[in-house]
Amino acid sequence: MPTTGPVAPDHRALGELVKRVGHALERLRQLSSPPVALAKEAGELVELFGTELQRHFASEESEQGFFADVIARAPRLDRPLRKLRKEHRAMTHSLKSLVDAARWAGVSSKSWLEVADRFDELAADLGRHETLEDSLVAEALNDDEGGSG
Ligand SMILES: [Fe+2]
Ligand SMILES: [Fe+2]
Repeated sequence: MPTTGPVAPDHRALGELVKRVGHALERLRQLSSPPVALAKEAGELVELFGTELQRHFASEESEQGFFADVIARAPRLDRPLRKLRKEHRAMTHSLKSLVDAARWAGVSSKSWLEVADRFDELAADLGRHETLEDSLVAEALNDDEGGSG
């Protein structure tokens, strides 16, 4: 059976990246005319976040991933798992708009404010999503150990 192990370090790494992007965007938020270097750095971080988040979702949905593992251990968790998959779709949609907005932001402070707001919203959704995943992993392991899953 695959293991749910990798999801926790992956969530931690993603959490660190979310913080880095958040800090970069927060710096831009304070400036009325963002310097090119800062805008470029923030843009690269948003791109990286986009790539990493898509990779994370794909890995969770892979044959050996989080969803397959949890359902194998605890079939009763089918419903919350389906909800989480839907959230992947919705967040992927928001992520694409976010990455697009960052690509076109240039050195416009107004555009970066918009990017920062979109990012905060997505980061909050992602935080709730990951917390739920962590708790489902714990439940699934518990079922599995109890032999009732
Ligand atoms: Fe997920
Ligand atoms: Fe996740």
